[in-house]
Amino acid sequence: MVISAKTKVCAIIGDPVEHSLSPVMHNAAFKELGLNLVYVAFTVTSTELKTAVLGTKTLGLKGLNVTMPHKNAVINYLDEVDTTAKNIGAVNTILNNQGKLIGYNTDGAGAMVALQENGVYPEEKKMLLIGAGGAAKAIAYQAAQDVDELVILNRTAKKAKQLAQMLQSCDAKVTGTALSSNVLKDELSTTDILVNATSVGMHPSIDCSPVPSDLLRSDLCVMDIIYNPLKTRLLKDAQSAGATVVSGLEMLIYQGAVAIEIWTNCPAPVAVMRTAALNQLKKQGVQC
Ligand SMILES: NC(=O)c1ccc[n+]([C@@H]2O[C@H](COP(=O)([O-])OP(=O)(O)OC[C@H]3O[C@@H](n4cnc5c(N)ncnc54)[C@H](OP(=O)(O)O)[C@@H]3O)[C@@H](O)[C@H]2O)c1
Repeated sequence: MVISAKTKVCAIIGDPVEHSLSPVMHNAAFKELGLNLVYVAFTVTSTELKTAVLGTKTLGLKGLNVTMPHKNAVINYLDEVDTTAKNIGAVNTILNNQGKLIGYNTDGAGAMVALQENGVYPEEKKMLLIGAGGAAKAIAYQAAQDVDELVILNRTAKKAKQLAQMLQSCDAKVTGTALSSNVLKDELSTTDILVNATSVGMHPSIDCSPVPSDLLRSDLCVMDIIYNPLKTRLLKDAQSAGATVVSGLEMLIYQGAVAIEIWTNCPAPVAVMRTAALNQLKKQGVQC
């Protein structure tokens, strides 16, 4: 594309952002859509967050993605926050709507769309979610709208209980408890969809898994939201057991797709985004 005086800019802000897959993924999408838009990455420290966010108005940036460690704090500098992001308490996408900054959270929707696009439908299902950190919270909020039962297990029991407590008004039955071998074995025996939203198994600890392989079955769907490595120990074990597996790259792609739809009103070209993200992962030496 030719970058001209009319080219609009989207960006990701965070610290660090050097390894983010978002620039290649989104630039590939904008090119495919024929939009006069570019996507760049800005390292923004916590002390710089306010001026960076307010600067997006001054510079007329079209939109932002927000990554660690700013997903919570950024809310303080927005004009409006949509209900889902408000409930989660975290924003990962900002639309600059003619000078009004509106915050969204596309992580949970990204995870649920990733499941559906891989043939896994949450309705009337039981989901077991391991983890109660930032990503788990976003997924739990979205999943609780769709599944029949949601069980949240976390190393720190208090966080699992707090998250479950926050979701008590949802239609789904939601419980939160400590992650232990016995509870895991018991809950997993009646689970349809297992989601790992912890960092267990992430590079460099690639031989670790939050679930013993002998608990995995062919009638399970297993999603691991980690994408480095692309195929985690958990996903390898699940595949060996004959389960349906969904990688963290799928969640990354679909949370980005929802962001593109917010910024441009265009349906995102997910196949192009997947190819671009996969190529970038390979360039970064990630096991694919
Ligand atoms: N695919 C995507 O689009 C996407 C998006 C966001 C994040 N992610 C990935 O998701 C993972 C979690 O990210 P996050 O932002 O939610 O991080 P976070 O807020 O720091 O939460 C980390 C979670 O992992 C648990 N955990 C960490 N070490 C553990 C261990 N040794 N044993 C058991 N549990 C452990 C934590 O439990 P405690 O509460 O007990 O500490 C917590 O539940 C990361 O790998 C990140 O790269 C992927």
